[in-house]
Amino acid sequence: MSEFRGKTDSDSDEDDAGKSDTSMLTISRHDFGDESDEPSFSISIIENMKDDYGLFVWPCSVILAEYVWQQRNRFSGAGVVELGAGTSLPGLVAAKLGSDVTLTDDSNRLEVLENMKRVCELNKLKSKVMGLTWGVWDAPIFDLCPKIILGADVFYDASAFDDLFATVKCLLENSPGSVFITTYHNRSGHHLIEFLMVKWRLKCVKLLDGFSFLPPDKASGLSGNIQLAEIVLSCEQAEETSSSIVR
Ligand SMILES: C[S@@+](CC[C@H](N)C(=O)[O-])C[C@H]1O[C@@H](n2cnc3c(N)ncnc32)[C@H](O)[C@@H]1O
Repeated sequence: MSEFRGKTDSDSDEDDAGKSDTSMLTISRHDFGDESDEPSFSISIIENMKDDYGLFVWPCSVILAEYVWQQRNRFSGAGVVELGAGTSLPGLVAAKLGSDVTLTDDSNRLEVLENMKRVCELNKLKSKVMGLTWGVWDAPIFDLCPKIILGADVFYDASAFDDLFATVKCLLENSPGSVFITTYHNRSGHHLIEFLMVKWRLKCVKLLDGFSFLPPDKASGLSGNIQLAEIVLSCEQAEETSSSIVR
């Protein structure tokens, strides 16, 4: 990943976003490819170091994006929705791999949604951008039928977990056979996630240490106990299994 600070080509549009401070803008570049080869492609992300949460590429996002790349056969031609996408790295990798991607974030965070549109333009990707607040049932959510739902670092505020699971459940039910792939910091075991999965009749069919598949050059810049989980409706047959399935 390389970075530089400074103004971007789209800085002249900055006032449209209203709240961002251009002086803190950074563009980071994220490469994807097989070991020792030249990268197959790179994604550039506009970040705002002044803002937190949605305008920063969080480690969970780097890990989920790498997983999408490594699982690329699943993404070609698939409908994908990214929840709490923020700077949207995993969703953009999916788009690059030929997925039909809808990037979403809190409907009230217009600066994040605006930044997503800019990042799509910067990478010449035609993903859709949509406000989607967890637990809020605006009509457009019922039109989404993704095969794969992505969520990087969306489990950080326990008071929002129920709303997030409600939204995930709705999307999984809209599209039989679909899967929610998420990366999260495993803080104190996160028993609440396991409890809420049971409550919402969801099950984890794959659980990985996020660093187990990350190339060393990407892992060296990150820290934390990050897990990747694949979650489906509990009534559905698992497509993939792992020795570390959550009971
Ligand atoms: C920790 S950031 C992660 C951003 C990005 N996925 C990443 O990993 O770099 C959490 C994201 O969830 C979004 N978010 C928080 N609460 C939300 C809600 N109730 N509905 C939808 N999005 C929400 C935030 O705006 C933010 O973009």
